[in-house]
Amino acid sequence: MTTGAQRATVDLCGVDELEPGVVRAVCLPNDRVLCVVRVGDEIRVFNATCPHHYASLTNGVVHNLLEAGAPPALTVDRERWVITCPWHRWEYDLESGHALCDRRLRIKLYDSEVVDGRVVSRLAPKAASGDAPPLRA
Ligand code: FES
Repeated sequence: MTTGAQRATVDLCGVDELEPGVVRAVCLPNDRVLCVVRVGDEIRVFNATCPHHYASLTNGVVHNLLEAGAPPALTVDRERWVITCPWHRWEYDLESGHALCDRRLRIKLYDSEVVDGRVVSRLAPKAASGDAPPLRA
């Protein structure tokens, strides 16, 4: 693995090893742990440490974003995915990485692609795309 513009790719796991919505922990040679998860037709790779109080997100729960409307309305956004931390239940948007309750905190997402059935990454930070989800109190 190298850093800089010419980053080598890191083989993380096989696509067939990913159950939809289930976090797979991948330990890198430097002991850093990443989470790899398949959401819909896409794959997300992110740091396994929750930025709130450093719980491991490898035991987090992945689900669609739920948005509250006027009671009793609750909508499910099937295009957006979040992970809920097992310790204090903070949720992080898996597109932008932002915590839904505090946009100052975010998990670091990385690039990934599938090559010959394997999930690989240059471990380059993924640019946040789209708007951050609604802030939750
Ligand atoms: S440690 Fe993750 S929400 Fe507190």
